[in-house]
Amino acid sequence: MPKSYCLPLALAAALLASAQPAATPNVPQNLRCEYLTNPEAVDAIPPRLSWQPVSATRGAVQSAYSILVSRDPAAVAGDTWDSGKVATSQFVNVPYAGKPLESGKTYYWKVRTWDNAGHESGWSAVARFGIGLLNKSDWKGQWIAGGNALRKEFSVAGKVVSAKIYVAAAGYYELRINGHKVGNHVLDPSYTPFAKRILYNAYDVTRAVNSGGNAVALLLGEGWFFDRVALVQLNIELEGGKKIEIVSDASWQAGRSPITSDSIYNGESYDARLEQPGWDQAGFTGEGWKAAAVKPAPTQALSAQAMPPIRALMEMTPKRMTSPKPGMFVYDLGQNFSGWVRLRASGPRGTVVKVRHAELLYEDGTLNVENLRGARATDTYTLKGEGEEVFEPHFTYHGFRYVEVTGYPGTPAMDSVQGRVVHSDVKPIGGFSSSKELLNQIQHLVQWGITSNLESVPTDCNQRDERMGWMADAHLYSEAAMYNFDMAAFYTNWLRSIRDEQDADGGVPDTTPRARFAHGAADPSWGAAYPLILWYAYQQYGDRRLLEQHFDGIRKWSDFLWSKSTGGTTDFVKYGDWVPVDFTPGPLTSTVYSYAAADVAAKAAHVLGKSADEQALRQRCTEIKDGFNKRFFNAAEGYFGNGSQGSQVLPLAYGLADDKNRGRAQSYLWNQIVYHNNSHLTTGILATKHLLPLLSRNGNLDLAYDIATKTDFPSWGYMIQNGATTLWELWQKREGPSMNSHNHAMFGSIGGWFMTDLAGIQLVEGGEGYEKVVIRPGVTRELKWAAGNFETLRGKVLSSWRRTDDGLRLEVMVPFGSTARIFVPKLGLHDVSVSEGGKPLWQDKKSAGAVEGVTAVSENDDDVVVDAGSGHYTFHLKGL
Ligand code: BGC
Repeated sequence: MPKSYCLPLALAAALLASAQPAATPNVPQNLRCEYLTNPEAVDAIPPRLSWQPVSATRGAVQSAYSILVSRDPAAVAGDTWDSGKVATSQFVNVPYAGKPLESGKTYYWKVRTWDNAGHESGWSAVARFGIGLLNKSDWKGQWIAGGNALRKEFSVAGKVVSAKIYVAAAGYYELRINGHKVGNHVLDPSYTPFAKRILYNAYDVTRAVNSGGNAVALLLGEGWFFDRVALVQLNIELEGGKKIEIVSDASWQAGRSPITSDSIYNGESYDARLEQPGWDQAGFTGEGWKAAAVKPAPTQALSAQAMPPIRALMEMTPKRMTSPKPGMFVYDLGQNFSGWVRLRASGPRGTVVKVRHAELLYEDGTLNVENLRGARATDTYTLKGEGEEVFEPHFTYHGFRYVEVTGYPGTPAMDSVQGRVVHSDVKPIGGFSSSKELLNQIQHLVQWGITSNLESVPTDCNQRDERMGWMADAHLYSEAAMYNFDMAAFYTNWLRSIRDEQDADGGVPDTTPRARFAHGAADPSWGAAYPLILWYAYQQYGDRRLLEQHFDGIRKWSDFLWSKSTGGTTDFVKYGDWVPVDFTPGPLTSTVYSYAAADVAAKAAHVLGKSADEQALRQRCTEIKDGFNKRFFNAAEGYFGNGSQGSQVLPLAYGLADDKNRGRAQSYLWNQIVYHNNSHLTTGILATKHLLPLLSRNGNLDLAYDIATKTDFPSWGYMIQNGATTLWELWQKREGPSMNSHNHAMFGSIGGWFMTDLAGIQLVEGGEGYEKVVIRPGVTRELKWAAGNFETLRGKVLSSWRRTDDGLRLEVMVPFGSTARIFVPKLGLHDVSVSEGGKPLWQDKKSAGAVEGVTAVSENDDDVVVDAGSGHYTFHLKGL
């Protein structure tokens, strides 16, 4: 299998185990501010600090912390904040509570903790956070434009003590100082609703700015703004305290870069003959530059880009090269991904090399670009003719597996082309694997599908003339994303963009940012991204502030849907259960998601103590549920809607089925799947997310497994049998000019089921942020073992089970300070006993001895149930 996003489980566990200290609590690890490690700029005031206490003792709990914050990196003396010893178990998102933090300043901090036995840790390593430019008046410059290159020379008389630069732009920029690119981001800044909010990046450039002559320069790309403007604020402090500000204004020079055209969909053209050596350095005297034009601000607000930037993260080496026609060379990179290629060539000046990108090939080995629709996906490079030249585009990206090179001087070598994987740099935090290779292959598709579609917003696809933040696609794969990648800061920003886009009547768009595909208010199943991702993020990260910030927004969205409803149900529908095999009526899906919106808002009201809202929203839920059952349940036949699988799955999964209808709809669904579809699903994107968890939690895990492991149409396995390396948009195999992307992440929702129902790591309501975990291994069918793990904000959670000759081995890791209820399945065995780490725990239906960290054990018909505190456990169940 090609490159993977996660460490093998056993290795990850071993690394973690060896990182555990031997005795007393060790120093806190993983210090973060607003979910980010040492961010250069945050503007959430007060920023919140998180760390992970470490202890080798099971059941350890933090009893207190002490934080010191200072402006001085060398001596973090607590002159800005000395929290003192604060008695609390909280170590995630602790709000800063010291002296007022100053705009544009950097702060250093460290923390120590005490555990429940009173042991004190050492001080952590020092971490830092920068405060962004909080006030409009901190930005002294003007928005400037003119051409696609901007430059400014300045000189510094004195020794530079600190230099920090803030850059905002719409669409993309690349920043250069004194001949070098600053930082390693690409395609900055992240895509937001520009008119409402543009993000700025901050970089510490203390070492890049010289005493004497300097130049600061920008390349600009049209990005999603389809124009080019930028705003720059460079703050320099010299020895002796003197301050210099270099800001964008009419004194900057504007000109043309060698980039002759750039477009996300169409690609980039670069003419190396137009390079002007030294243009980004001091003392440049080149021609063709004029004064930059001052432009009105394109936005109402600036905010710090407090989320992972896009980066070029991996190299993809071509697997093979063919030449289907003279002068045409086609490379197979072996994997569909987002990014571009690095091209190497040497040849005569003026040679134009063209690189086209595609997901598919025709049988004759040439590129099939039909499904890219209007996206030309072509980069061209014109050689300057000076030895080996290396080119990577700056302001485009492509979704592809194959590239075609034409116009190459001579015959390219295998390494003339190298793939560069480009996406938001969300940290890989986990993974799933099992004894069933097909499931591992699906997991591969899920991870690559998701990362291919994280380009600062969650996109639908990565290749054709679309790549929008389609809201349904986003909520459908968001839980799978959160189990595999650290999504906290990414979704924090995107939720804010949804709120930015919300209309006065409460409507949200089908895509965020609202773009050319989003007219009017969203389909209820698309707009559901607002309440649902908010709620998933709250569950995963326990972030109450998110609920506070978005409660009004999701309440307004629910009100909007209610205004479109009569008798509890709504006919407001645009897409419904999209791309299904069997159609489900749109009013049914829309009413389900109207219920989901009211339900999430009611739950959020409960958490926030807004009891009047909670009551009103609960009442709304009741009315929707009543109306739904009246309108959509066919009492004669015993099914919802038109009897499709989707018509049953959605109301059952969202809790809309009346007690008297639930059982009948469930059996109807089972019959449909088993007798009418030979254990295949026929659902579209919405119901597919819920089908497998629904079956698994209602006693039909084996059927869920059967569906998941099919290899004929329609199934994930069918995609794999047909060569998929990422998830398709359709269950059907299609390769023509119609809508059939081969890299859509929405069916990646199955990645959530792997974690929750096969590895069996589940959240408990009220235990948000994995303070309370349920481990319920999904032992089924031929599966010999399965394992899932991911890094929560509290530390790693792991569930890894394996059948043994006489029972089951179950390895569990419970995050620091958390508790777990662990269901050790009896597998139908009698007279079961359970040991932990070789020590007897349970025998003859009673406790067989005390085990460190275990607080209670009991037995029911199916499981031995163990309650335990944090730590690493290995259980063995045996029976007859
Ligand atoms: C997108 C989908 C999206 C849909 C809306 C398509 O063009 O690619 O994934 O959700 O439109 O129905």
